[in-house]
Amino acid sequence: MIVDSTRETGTISKYIYGQFAEHLGRCIYEGVWVGEDSPIPHVNGIRQDVVEALREIKVPVIRWPGGCFADEYHWKDGIGPVENRKTIVNTHWGGVTENNHFGTHEFFELCKQVGAEAYVNGNVGSGTVQEMQEWVEYMTMEGTSPMADLRRENGQEEAWKMKFFGVGNESWGCGGNMRPEYYADLYRRYQTYVRNYTTDSIYKIACGPNIDDYDWMEVLMKNAHQFMDGISLHHYSLASVWEDKRPAIGFPEKEWYSLIDSANLMDELITKHSTIMDKYDPEKRVGLIVDEWGSWLAVEPGTNPGFLYQQNTIRDAMIASLTLNIFHKHSDRVHMANIAQMVNVLQSMILTDGDQMIKTPTYHVFNLYKNHMDATKIDSWGDMKETTSYTVSKKEGIITLSFCNYAVDESDEVTLDLGFPIQNVNAEILVSEELDAHNTFEEPERVTVEAFKTYKVDGETLIITLPPKSVVSIYVKEE
Ligand code: AHR
Repeated sequence: MIVDSTRETGTISKYIYGQFAEHLGRCIYEGVWVGEDSPIPHVNGIRQDVVEALREIKVPVIRWPGGCFADEYHWKDGIGPVENRKTIVNTHWGGVTENNHFGTHEFFELCKQVGAEAYVNGNVGSGTVQEMQEWVEYMTMEGTSPMADLRRENGQEEAWKMKFFGVGNESWGCGGNMRPEYYADLYRRYQTYVRNYTTDSIYKIACGPNIDDYDWMEVLMKNAHQFMDGISLHHYSLASVWEDKRPAIGFPEKEWYSLIDSANLMDELITKHSTIMDKYDPEKRVGLIVDEWGSWLAVEPGTNPGFLYQQNTIRDAMIASLTLNIFHKHSDRVHMANIAQMVNVLQSMILTDGDQMIKTPTYHVFNLYKNHMDATKIDSWGDMKETTSYTVSKKEGIITLSFCNYAVDESDEVTLDLGFPIQNVNAEILVSEELDAHNTFEEPERVTVEAFKTYKVDGETLIITLPPKSVVSIYVKEE
């Protein structure tokens, strides 16, 4: 493989490393929010172990409050004194009652503590234009206005910075079961009232297609591209068909590969959706926002099926690594992505149990990849094995090469020609022998990042042996 660090091929947006946090199961409640009276260490009700872990991976943006929940969420239920907040039923996710203690103010507090920007998803499915307009005014209006005054009454003097706003979620499904023509018109109408109250313009995101619904993309781009900054795409990796969610641990080898094949489909989906977008937006102004992605497997036995709590293994690490590589490849079109979800739901970074917290193999991939955020992609070519996926970028004089060898039992020897004498190299690896290696509350460090040593330097050449089932990041100082 040849790497030519003088040939720059674009920038990898840091927003590709975004997270998604929905009012679903134990993501917000327990996973993030423990409340002011909790014995679990917290600041203003937000648990500190989780915040600290998220800060370490430099989470750039958090999408909230859903998901399907977003189209049933009425933001005024979640402001004001907590004891007066309305109790609601989360009809999508387990039919549980929630007390709305985590609302707009608490979300911005979470973003502040994590150091992330805000991506708020508005309600088109069951909300009015007025409700959406007032929420945007409440969050972002600096001067005097009814909603800005209400925000101040509730203790927040300054307007918040709300960079991204989604106009509905899955409007083709849980967000209203609409046809694309109808949603395109609704999008045009609702987005009109997503006003810029400051000089920072809000990045407006239209609800895009599910997986390979190319007709949805065509209709939306044709009728509304001039009113959007981004359009979403949702694709979850499945080990079998949607109706037959396969176990997250204890799975056979064929499901290792079927899940990975499903994740690899992302490349084709982005290519085909981008081709449609190119017809209406050849300059690639409109971003493809993959705001839900990751593995969707069977819930942990004994847990509420509506809570989508699943274990996370070295196989999920492969999914994370190869999907991030795909996003990097398409960084001219993919402006943001948000893995589903941040804590305790689907392919999480973090799992919690009471006051305990563990980092998943997926978390470790985000840590191994963090140098790629806002880095410059550099050109590379060569014959790689089909089961090896990779990315090369540089930032601040360091070239980061990240590889995923998802073969179950074959290592891959890669010879890299970097074109300059290699003197300063560091490398890290996430690897495991077992197909379903994972961390537990009893054994939290079973799958973790270690120093990687199986490489040789020979002048301008680096020879690395990637073990099977591994993710490796190599950091080379550009001399
Ligand atoms: O992430 C879980 C759910 O998956 C989201 O609420 C929804 O948008 C999607 O169907």
